[in-house]
Amino acid sequence: MIVKVCVGSSCHLKGSYDVIEKMKEILKKYDVEDLIDLQASFCLGFCAQGVTVKADDFDKATVDKIGDNQLLLHNVNKDNIEDTFATKIYPLLNI
Ligand code: FES
Repeated sequence: MIVKVCVGSSCHLKGSYDVIEKMKEILKKYDVEDLIDLQASFCLGFCAQGVTVKADDFDKATVDKIGDNQLLLHNVNKDNIEDTFATKIYPLLNI
């Protein structure tokens, strides 16, 4: 799975750097560094709802489960990223 954190101008101002740093810690904590490719992304087109995070490159089981090949998350920040990860992203790993 790929998780992209928007680092476009608006999301940058809203703290995307902090989200990325926190995500690095979370991936270690959950021992999923080998399963999730964390990337920075240019503007994802939802600037008013940043920080925007997009998960994609799912396996077939996940696509069947959620009926989509991507997951967009909005209003992510350093304080809610761990809960967002635990409830929205981690379950998509099917582990
Ligand atoms: S700057 Fe992040 S969605 Fe546009």
